[in-house]
Amino acid sequence: MRKLAAGNWKMNGMTASIAEARAVSIAHPNPSVDILLCPPATLLSRMAESLANSSVALGAQDCHPAACGAHTGDIAASMLVEGGASAIIVGHSERRADHGEGDATVKAKAEAAIAAGVVAIVCIGETLEEREAGRTLDVTRAQIAGSLPAGATAANTVVAYEPVWAIGTGKVATPEQIAEVHADLRATLAGLVSDASEMRLLYGGSVKAANAAEIFALGNVDGALVGGASLTADNFNPIIDALEAAASASS
Ligand code: 13P
Repeated sequence: MRKLAAGNWKMNGMTASIAEARAVSIAHPNPSVDILLCPPATLLSRMAESLANSSVALGAQDCHPAACGAHTGDIAASMLVEGGASAIIVGHSERRADHGEGDATVKAKAEAAIAAGVVAIVCIGETLEEREAGRTLDVTRAQIAGSLPAGATAANTVVAYEPVWAIGTGKVATPEQIAEVHADLRATLAGLVSDASEMRLLYGGSVKAANAAEIFALGNVDGALVGGASLTADNFNPIIDALEAAASASS
């Protein structure tokens, strides 16, 4: 499968950041991995114009489960697709925490993304409290079973494992921790979808140039969902390079 380097800009990015995305595309004119940047919705259509026919695809960070209607302040998947999104992140832990989104909501959002014709990137991950209680795999299994959209396939769904305690903390999960969860995710997905071996599993949580190669060398890690280090080309480009190196080593 083709590996995926995805950047989640979260609530960061003004007009000046478009140049960073352009610099990523210029540094990778013909990449051997997929590159995706998920800017705030306000930048999406302008970035789509700026990056037309480039190697950088665009995604969104959330969508509403409904196709349209009276939901002030929300954005429908089809609107994001019209704006240039080819993927939509759903169930990020910050949305689960900030907006009380549970698995059923995340599943409905993922289904809305797929219905709009784009890839759903479904995020899961345990809190520190859950890990310390020895409940990590119980939590990730329940989240994947509850959040995976109906009709999920490797073509329309990506799963991102992001331990909550590793997000934005500089505290990356150890290779053993990542490998354990990703192997378990692959096995869990095998019971839920017919092409689990082809479904991309991303790791997210304090990925940066200094730790990317070690993470990408792990089995069942098919890319990364990068937060802070995706905001500038200087930080994101070497992560893409590391993923390309891992892809060529494993092919
Ligand atoms: P950081 O890379 O900033 O830890 O964020 C990870 C993340 O939440 C990506 O969605």
